Amino acid sequence: MMNIVETLNRRYSTKEFNPEKKISDADMEAVKSLLRLSPSSTNIQPWHFIIADSQQGKARIARGAQDFYLFNESKIMNASHVIVLCARTSAEEEYMQRVLEQEDQDGRYANPEVKQMVYNPRNHFADIHRNDLNDFQHWVEKQVYLSMGSLLMGAASIGLDALPMEGVDVNIINDEFGLSEQGFTSVAVVALGYRDASDFNAALPKSRLPESEVFTFLS
Ligand SMILES: Cc1cc2nc3c(=O)[nH]c(=O)nc-3n(C[C@H](O)[C@H](O)[C@H](O)COP(=O)(O)O)c2cc1C
Repeated sequence: MMNIVETLNRRYSTKEFNPEKKISDADMEAVKSLLRLSPSSTNIQPWHFIIADSQQGKARIARGAQDFYLFNESKIMNASHVIVLCARTSAEEEYMQRVLEQEDQDGRYANPEVKQMVYNPRNHFADIHRNDLNDFQHWVEKQVYLSMGSLLMGAASIGLDALPMEGVDVNIINDEFGLSEQGFTSVAVVALGYRDASDFNAALPKSRLPESEVFTFLS
């Protein structure tokens, strides 16, 4: 078992995947848990994940990695599994009710009063972002990025390699999967699999700004 710092140093953005190595079903179950159990503000869970493991499925995602984004195409095609992280574009009453009912079914509410005590603030938070801060979409996408963080760290901890990609045309991916009609937008893509022995990036040292710049300690 690697310790957490070893895992952080072992993980890196994989630029060349071994196309022959597939992630096991058991590890993919863990990957799904990393995404679904990721925390989100007020437990709003404003996400959906498209997971491709076939060449055909990956090719559909790779339509978003053309022209300027062509540098990401082979990463998508050679990875074992590729995930499109999608964010809701709205959270209507019907959706908010569904989250609430799920929490109820999962046994979180001893009585209707407690249920309401969660429901009202959740709506209030969403309304603040909709109406006061005017950053609802940004707020939602921040929650989705938390799931990407869980995914990257968790994947590394079970020995998987990964590459997060913002270098994709989200509009093309939205069209490819009809996401806008379903009330979602893609925000990023993560490729998962195993590094190829030829990956130049695996041999490069990590580079980060020094602690003195990154941290302020109050003691
Ligand atoms: C949100 C996000 C988007 C990224 N997009 C791309 C990308 O489109 N293509 C790529 O090759 N690397 C991409 N990267 C990789 C970063 O360049 C990399 O994480 C950074 O240089 C730090 O290196 P490390 O991940 O190897 O520690 C992305 C990383 C993040 C976190």
